[in-house]
Amino acid sequence: MHYAFTSILCETAVKHTIKEKPMLKEKMLKALNAQVNAEMYSSYLYLSMESYFQSVSLSGFSTWMRAQVQEELFHGMKIYDYICERGGRVALDAIKKPDSDWKSPLAAFKHILKHEQHVTELINDLMDLAIGEKDHATQNFLQWFVAEQVEEEASVGEIVDKLKLIKDDTSGLFMLDAELGRRIFTPPAKGE
Ligand code: FEO
Repeated sequence: MHYAFTSILCETAVKHTIKEKPMLKEKMLKALNAQVNAEMYSSYLYLSMESYFQSVSLSGFSTWMRAQVQEELFHGMKIYDYICERGGRVALDAIKKPDSDWKSPLAAFKHILKHEQHVTELINDLMDLAIGEKDHATQNFLQWFVAEQVEEEASVGEIVDKLKLIKDDTSGLFMLDAELGRRIFTPPAKGE
């Protein structure tokens, strides 16, 4: 009996806490949830590429991919945390199967560039929605992602350019492999 009473009290407290949070509008919540899935898919795609680069003995490319896997997980969790902070419920969906083979490092990086351009479009669509919904907090939150996509496209584009210059030059490929192998993912400090 005492337990049942305590339980009712707890439920009331939980409901009360959720109601106190500034809620996201339904459309915005759905779109942010879809972006969590898109970031998780990105992470999965890069994990698949990490495995591809390991299979062709390019360990530096593989290290670069592992850092990218962690970065994409960070992006997904950043949105996850924001949804929770705004009183929303995260709804996880199935993650699409990624490709698993590429005919060359250049083909893999061209795929990444195309993928990141698509992610930029998704972020821009989210921003358009937040503007339309007059959701200023979400607009402010999304600014970080807008800047991040500029960086992502620039760094991947640079690697595509280098791979084009290298063509079939094996020593050039090994030099780039060594350079990419120095990448370490460091999560940005809160507020950065
Ligand atoms: Fe999360 Fe590479 O964009």
